[in-house]
Amino acid sequence: MLSLPDTPEPVPIAAVCFDAYGTLLDVHSALAQVMAGGAPLLEPARAQAFSALWRDKQLAYTWLRNSMRRHADFAVVTADALDHAMAAYGLADDAASRSALLDAYRRLAPFAEVPKALARLRAQNIPLAVLSNGTPEMLAAGLGSAGIAEHLDTVISVEALGVFKPVPEVYALATRHFGVPARQILFISANGWDVHGAASFGCTVIHLNRQDAAAERLPGRPAYQLCDLAPLPDLIQGTTG
Ligand code: LAC
Repeated sequence: MLSLPDTPEPVPIAAVCFDAYGTLLDVHSALAQVMAGGAPLLEPARAQAFSALWRDKQLAYTWLRNSMRRHADFAVVTADALDHAMAAYGLADDAASRSALLDAYRRLAPFAEVPKALARLRAQNIPLAVLSNGTPEMLAAGLGSAGIAEHLDTVISVEALGVFKPVPEVYALATRHFGVPARQILFISANGWDVHGAASFGCTVIHLNRQDAAAERLPGRPAYQLCDLAPLPDLIQGTTG
């Protein structure tokens, strides 16, 4: 086990569990890929807002479907959110761009520091996992094309339950998989609401605050905040045993 230093009581960490979208994989790289391929989809100034709307709707639909108890998998929700964003930007009839964007979403770029940080963590012999809203199929495609699947011991999808984060049972998939109490799972997410979902469940949590976002006012508290993953291997380097 590894320990997190500088906490009042050292927390023995048995496994590190990452969120996928927005944490390891850059969701905004889908539109960037399609536009770099020459599609005259949107002016750069509007492209960023379009991509943000797609992401915001995708997340909102997961929470709303949880509340409505009308689950559809993350591939469906991602396509529905894209359809909303395309309609909002007057692109509803652009079937070729729709298809290119959904295809690009299966091949998102990792954030620059992610592959090396995961490789360094792996060398520390700590089990590494992903716990994501993505379907097993989307995650296999995305983590594989990003070149990071090889660093992960396990990929856990919410589809095992048919409900999205931040329902507590989702985080329990990780504790059940590793057979340890929640505090021994180090959960890492760039999504503030996911940070609080995991912390409220009892995990030890690091907020990977890539956008320097203001703190959410929700139950649960992250143990640490980092700007990116690069310092993580040194942070959790500790004693084994
Ligand atoms: C995930 C979403 C929340 O990967 O980004 O679960």
